[in-house]
Amino acid sequence: MNILVYFLFLIWFFTLGAAAILYFLFFIDTLYGHDLPTSRRAIREIIKIVRSFKPDAKNFYDLGCGRGTLALAVKSEFPELNVFALDKSGLRLLFARLKNFVLGRGVIFQNKNIFDADLRSADILYTYLWYDWMPPLEEKLRKELKTGAIVITNTSHFSKWQPIATYITYPKKPDFEKLFVYRVE
Ligand SMILES: C[S@@+](CC[C@H](N)C(=O)[O-])C[C@H]1O[C@@H](n2cnc3c(N)ncnc32)[C@H](O)[C@@H]1O
Repeated sequence: MNILVYFLFLIWFFTLGAAAILYFLFFIDTLYGHDLPTSRRAIREIIKIVRSFKPDAKNFYDLGCGRGTLALAVKSEFPELNVFALDKSGLRLLFARLKNFVLGRGVIFQNKNIFDADLRSADILYTYLWYDWMPPLEEKLRKELKTGAIVITNTSHFSKWQPIATYITYPKKPDFEKLFVYRVE
């Protein structure tokens, strides 16, 4: 009986310890950079965009995937799609990979700077990035993406490309999580 009590205590102690460490890491992580996850409403809209603009897509990229919220939701909706999710923050990817493992989703997470990624095979690409990254990204995508690829940007957008569609996610705050859809010509 005593051994069982000790055993249960050890399990409780280590579970609590692991949860405390994860919570602490999560707190530290939120202090660094723009880490806002895509909201549920915007995710629903993005899923509709994928369905209507590129239902035959094979490769989906989330550039700057954070803790994987959008990438995991897309994979759950389109299990046949190869979902690649890149972020330069190892800590955010740790959370994303944990969720991926627990949910058994099969998203391919990569710890990589998006400017070092080879994006030639992308059919659909999604970004929710800080404004400063958009001009250099626009230049990279213009050189790399194949004709017909679809790019969805959230809030921040490209200055030189003309969107083929825009979606207002929150009518009361029209600029917040506004989605821009571009097609590479
Ligand atoms: C707003 S979060 C995106 C959240 C995610 N797309 C989602 O929908 O849940 C932006 C992320 O981009 C990442 N990021 C910013 N610049 C990057 C770069 N050059 N290479 C890789 N990741 C980058 C940040 O680390 C951050 O996690």
